[in-house]
Amino acid sequence: APGAQRFIPPEADTIDALRAAATGCRGCELYRDASQTVFGRGDESARVVFVGEQPGDMEDQKGLPFVGPAGRLLRKAVDDAGLDPRHIYLTNAVKHFRFELRGKRRIHQTPDRVHITACRPWLVAEFARLDPEIVVVLGATAAKALLGPTFRVTRQRGELLPWPASAQHPEDFQRVPVDTEGKVADAPEARLLATIHPSAVLRADDQDKAYDGLVADLTVAARALA
Ligand code: URA
Ligand code: SF4
Repeated sequence: APGAQRFIPPEADTIDALRAAATGCRGCELYRDASQTVFGRGDESARVVFVGEQPGDMEDQKGLPFVGPAGRLLRKAVDDAGLDPRHIYLTNAVKHFRFELRGKRRIHQTPDRVHITACRPWLVAEFARLDPEIVVVLGATAAKALLGPTFRVTRQRGELLPWPASAQHPEDFQRVPVDTEGKVADAPEARLLATIHPSAVLRADDQDKAYDGLVADLTVAARALA
């Protein structure tokens, strides 16, 4: 069967174990042309988890998410919104770089639904091992992966939505919260907030306005943490 599921070892109970397993994923054809799998990174007990689209050219070379121009802009926006950049976790809906060669240049191509679907088990597995208070959905691809094809970022950006209740398949994201004694604990309901992708800010005609909009949305997330 296609898809990432068969590459996920059930005994991989940490993000590091998942990341190690993901290096060998062949759940769709994107592994063939990309340099390496780019898995999520950051604070595993982060209160805020960001989901982007896919690694870009720089991320593909370095093996780390959000280390290129979009990542730089996102970090600045996180800072300007008053979120603590040390306590976030960053990941992507699709873990390999999809591109088209034009001469020697690698031109970003938006992942298709097949890639999003194939890669989604990694995202579900990450969330089973994270425990955020807020999930920030960056742009349309992440929204497709988490919220389904009908969600429109432009219409619902900056709104706090219930998580995982607002997810397309909320049962995928149910995490049984356990306390230190292994008993089921009462975890606070997490929430979700969608906003534009930092790359969309870089492409916007009015970059300042687009940036301010991104920061305004992230400020809603920052205030909700309080
Ligand atoms: N854009 C993304 O969506 N993710 C990255 O990691 C880099 C750029
Ligand atoms: Fe596996 Fe995702 Fe890479 Fe496809 S994009 S090979 S599903 S890690």
